[in-house]
Amino acid sequence: MKESGVDGKILELFRSGDGVVSGAALSRILGVSRTAVWKHVKALRGNGYRIEAVPAKGYRLLSSPEVFTSLDISAGLATKRIGSSIVCLKETESTNHVAFKMAEEGAREGTVVIADAQSAGKGRLGRVWLSPAGVNLYCSVVLRPSIAPVAACQLTFLSVVAVARAIESCTTLKPLIKWPNDILIDGKKVAGLLNEMNAETEKVNFVVLGIGVNLNVRMSDLGEGLLRHPATSLLEAGGVEVNRAEFTRVLLRELDQLYDRFLAEGEGPVRAEWLERSAIRGRSVRVSQVNREFTGVVQGVDSFGALLVKLADGTVETVLSGDVALI
Ligand code: BTN
Repeated sequence: MKESGVDGKILELFRSGDGVVSGAALSRILGVSRTAVWKHVKALRGNGYRIEAVPAKGYRLLSSPEVFTSLDISAGLATKRIGSSIVCLKETESTNHVAFKMAEEGAREGTVVIADAQSAGKGRLGRVWLSPAGVNLYCSVVLRPSIAPVAACQLTFLSVVAVARAIESCTTLKPLIKWPNDILIDGKKVAGLLNEMNAETEKVNFVVLGIGVNLNVRMSDLGEGLLRHPATSLLEAGGVEVNRAEFTRVLLRELDQLYDRFLAEGEGPVRAEWLERSAIRGRSVRVSQVNREFTGVVQGVDSFGALLVKLADGTVETVLSGDVALI
């Protein structure tokens, strides 16, 4: 087992147990000496993990470092592709920017970049994504699917559905999806997705899925006045603080499972789940595009992620970009 693998396994054992894990058990399961276990515990402490030695019993994990580490995320992740490499940064301009550069330099499929804070978080349509430290999730995932550029927007279905599933699994909240890639709770935005792509005419080289989720931020700290749309966080909506590392692990597992299905069966099943979770199917909406605005009733989305809106004269408009608001 690699050194970091031993540290990860120790964290996994702490999490799966119900408190104290004995040195003997750690040594047996990990296949290393008691002295080696002690050295690994010491190294974890040096990295910000508070581990208590309980006399005659073993070790107990009291807390993890405030800024989570790649080990926090990878320990027990058990995914096929997503998280093949995990980079955790204290602060960066934008995780999408870092992941894009890494992908250009050959980063593997499934590489994940996470930052505790972003100084220039990017939103859709050139907007800013407010990214304060220590409270939310800002992450970007590199994918290298063998698909045509026109099909790349289908990948948005994956990240949106994965975030919705992760919210349901970590809270009692009921998220709804709003086209193209917002996640709402009680009509307020809690997460946003921004995909960026590098492609040639015929094929996609890579796609970066950018995922921002408001986990524990207080809206008063985010400066609500700066937001275009009403926003919320899982803490504000549910009243309970969310464990950021745990949420991230759940999200990456969901993404891994959905991506696997996408590669095996195409976009159909993920799109079907997207539609089931959609806040706007069958609803009247106003669509605002750069030089045009119109209203209609949402029929669904096509296989390329475009919104299908039925106008008053019966024609169906295919909307590839723009803002959609419920009427
Ligand atoms: C939106 O406008 O709704 C999309 C917001 C996307 C924000 C995420 S946070 C992680 C990744 N890095 C960025 O700079 N943006 C995305």
